Parts: sequence; structure tokens; C-alpha cells
Amino acid sequence: MTILMDGMRLNAREGQTILDVAREHDIRIPTLCYHEKLKPIGSCRMCIVEVEGSSTPVAACTTAVSDGMIVRTHTPDLVELRRETLKLIFLKHPMNCAACEINGNCQLQDLAHEYDINHTDLHTYNIRPVEPEPGPYATPLIQYHPRRCILCGRCVQACVEITEVGAINFKGRGALARIAPVERMGSIKPECVSCGECMAVCPVNALTEALGKKRGKAWETRKVKTTCTYCGCGCQLELNAVGETVTAVTPVDGGVNRGALCSKGRFGYDFINHHERLKTPLIRENGTWREANWDEALDFVAKRLVDIRSESGPDAIGALASARCTNEENYLFQKFIRGVIGTNNVDHCARL
Ligand code: SF4
Ligand code: SF4
Ligand code: SF4
Ligand code: FES
Repeated sequence: MTILMDGMRLNAREGQTILDVAREHDIRIPTLCYHEKLKPIGSCRMCIVEVEGSSTPVAACTTAVSDGMIVRTHTPDLVELRRETLKLIFLKHPMNCAACEINGNCQLQDLAHEYDINHTDLHTYNIRPVEPEPGPYATPLIQYHPRRCILCGRCVQACVEITEVGAINFKGRGALARIAPVERMGSIKPECVSCGECMAVCPVNALTEALGKKRGKAWETRKVKTTCTYCGCGCQLELNAVGETVTAVTPVDGGVNRGALCSKGRFGYDFINHHERLKTPLIRENGTWREANWDEALDFVAKRLVDIRSESGPDAIGALASARCTNEENYLFQKFIRGVIGTNNVDHCARL
């Protein structure tokens, strides 16, 4: 089928939304609640467009295209409506960008800039925002900031669609609406698994790490793509570092995990800069540990293995492999223990 968008005739396919077609043809329609990993939510109304024959603007992210549709994406009326939407969002959301950790990497800030929202606009409606009550979130690893929350619903959707748990939902109405753990329904209470997917999709820093380090600003943060070391899945992630200190883990697209992480991969990075972290091998002598270099440590281990094997036989030796090694390393390790040392006393910490 074809549709006419901003005067251009564009090819479109059955099942696509107006936003899908616009993006496919590099036509920018502003969005806020829309997230590529989630089904369209349609809550923020930033993506409204005019469709000929429709008496009111429609959300581009939730409206399917039809053959011959005529769409306008940037009329003066639409720009004005989007400005009003942003003003209403900023009635509650504190425009406190200078002190905000995602300053410089924020969709809402970009929209405020694009639609020229300034402090004078924030007094248009002369309404004092309600100060929401603090309340518990679904996991102690994440802190919820109700004033910042724009109630876009991404977190709720991510918990259902990505993690398939459904541990959080909207609670309360109007100005008191907030995100909260779901109530028990009879014997069913979906339990949060602390995966942090909700936090990862929040566009306005309303969900932050409760125990994490202070994050650096976008422009001082170095991102290093790497593989999670916790288990054999090989999830891809991005370490965020300021100087030599890792301050956060963020998802990367693709990889076996398709951007998703578990609680260990997302929150368990403090060991990297921990002051007790081992950085050299240690050899125990007379009951105390002393630092050694790798050559010395490997020579020591090789000599002890040979001595024990000749004195007491190969079954006097047992070996434990690590989930933090690759499959190939673990394969070589068991091969060495079985083929070279000559014992089947080999196991893996994942089975403990
Ligand atoms: S979330 Fe965005 S708009 Fe809000 S204070 Fe932070 S940088 Fe500014
Ligand atoms: S941490 Fe994971 S399981 Fe818990 S509320 Fe967020 S998305 Fe749901
Ligand atoms: S916590 Fe974040 S993702 Fe969830 S509704 Fe609020 S702004 Fe949206
Ligand atoms: S992006 Fe379409 S309604 Fe929010």
C-alpha cells in the first residue's frame, strides 16, 4: 500500500503503524513513551499526527496505516499541542537538569529544548504539583522517584513483556498516581526478580540504582562494551566508567540476551573497584598470604600437583572450575584434570 506523509508518497506494509512508516523513511515524529523493545503504549501523546478524515489528532505509535492515508506530522497545531503536553509533564516533573544524572542524555530534556519549553511556561497553569508520598518499590535495589515519574508506563510494560513477571503497576489516580508493587491477588503475588529492566527503559531517571555509585555525567562517562562474567550465558553489556571507576551497567542492543540482563549482571559490578579485590596471585607461607607473580604461582601449583600425584596418586587431587570462565576454558580445564592429572575429581562451582 502507499500513504501520503507530509506530501511524500511512501510505501507501507499491512500491520505497520504511522510511526513505523515514518521511521522507515527518516521522518522524525517526536516520541516519549514509545520504546523499540516494547509494544506501543500510547500514553504520552507526543507523537500525535493529523490524519485526513479524523476529527482529532491520533497517536502515530498506535495507529495502523491504511492504503491512501494522508498524514501530516508537523503542522502549527500539532506543535502547539505537543508544547501543551510538555508543559503538563513539567508541572510535576522537576526541571532540575543541572543536578540530574542523565542531563545530556535525556529524551525529555531534548524535547523541552526542541519545543522551546522554559521556566515561564511552567507557570502557565498556576497549579502546585502534589508532593507524592514516598513508598516502597518492588525491589530494594531500585529507588523510585515519584516527582520525576511521568507515568509513561514503560516500566510496567517492560516487567510484563521482557521479564514476564508483572511485579509493578499504576497505583492511585490523578495527581496521586504512581508506580508501585502489585497487590496480592488471592494466592498470587508476582515477585520482582530485581532484573532492572524497568529501570533500563525509564526515560526520565525516575528509577535509579538504590545502592549504586553516583553516576557520572553523559559527557564524562566512557562506555565499554563487554561480556558479563557471572555465568556462561555470555550476555552483552556496557560498563559505564568515569576515570577508572565503574559507575553503572547499561544494556546494549543485540547479543544472546537481546539487551536484557539479570540482577547480577546489572547491579553486581561493585567488585570491580572493590578495595579487597585480588589483583595478583597469593601464596600461603607459614599460615600467611604473600603476593606472587603469575610465573611463580604457576610453577608452585605445577610442582605441588606433581608431588601430590606421585606421593598419593591422582585421586588425591580434586579440581573445581569456575562459571566465570568461558565454555572453552572449562572444557580445557576438565580435559587437563582427566587427561593429564588422571582423575575424574573435577566439578564446577555452578553445581554447588
Ligand atoms: S530527567 Fe531529563 S528533563 Fe528531567 S531533570 Fe533529568 S535531564 Fe532534566
Ligand atoms: S526489577 Fe525486573 S522484575 Fe522487578 S519490577 Fe523491575 S522489571 Fe519487574
Ligand atoms: S517510573 Fe519511569 S518508566 Fe515507569 S512510568 Fe515513571 S517515568 Fe515511566
Ligand atoms: S510515543 Fe506515541 S503516545 Fe507516546
